[in-house]
Amino acid sequence: MIMHSEVFSVSLPRIGDIAPSFKAETTQGTIHFPDDYKGKWILFFSHPADFTPVCTSEFITFASLEDEFSKLNTQLVGLSVDGLYSHIAWLRTIKEKIEFRGLKDVEVRFPLIEDITMEIARKYGMIQPNESSTKAVRAVFFIDPHSTIRAMIYYPLSLGRNFEELKRVLIGLQTADQFGVALPADWQPGEDVIVPPANSCGQAEKRMNGQDEGVYCKDWFFCMKPLPLEELEQR
Ligand code: BEZ
Repeated sequence: MIMHSEVFSVSLPRIGDIAPSFKAETTQGTIHFPDDYKGKWILFFSHPADFTPVCTSEFITFASLEDEFSKLNTQLVGLSVDGLYSHIAWLRTIKEKIEFRGLKDVEVRFPLIEDITMEIARKYGMIQPNESSTKAVRAVFFIDPHSTIRAMIYYPLSLGRNFEELKRVLIGLQTADQFGVALPADWQPGEDVIVPPANSCGQAEKRMNGQDEGVYCKDWFFCMKPLPLEELEQR
């Protein structure tokens, strides 16, 4: 039996790559991606199809969080392989008719890309033929203000995304950049962070002896600290 993956070639941008660029028509007009959003973080995500239930629940949730993402200097950009008129009709239906988890009358204000040729979806590895060769999977790309892909998460067609995790990944990346730190397993904003390795034996010794202010160690290679609250509040 020939698997679809032998027929299609799937390219997948990787962490650290510059986000592949393209021009697209969206529900908010023409965009040049990622250049239009330089200086901002971007959550670029795909959904399988308009007028489907899981996607509808996700869009209502994305739209309800748009202001929160905006405060995190983050632009939402969606894509599916449906056409523009389908997108417009679906978003109107969402606003006029659908209530989900107490959210209703929800307006989607971020751009939703039409990609009927699947050119953009293929560029971003959103078409994963052994899942579906006609629909995009639920991909999420986290792209930083310099247009570098910093993280990506893929979900199958049947499972809606976890929005708390999307926010956690975004805030984690921003925190790691701002403070030059790393984040431990299951880290949540406000929790202590991991400091980079000591740059000398002297520094390692100081840390182990509790003489590096705020830093505490579980061993010489595993040291943590709280972040300064005032700086966190300024973000
Ligand atoms: C959905 O969003 O409900 C969905 C879309 C494509 C396949 C299966 C479910």
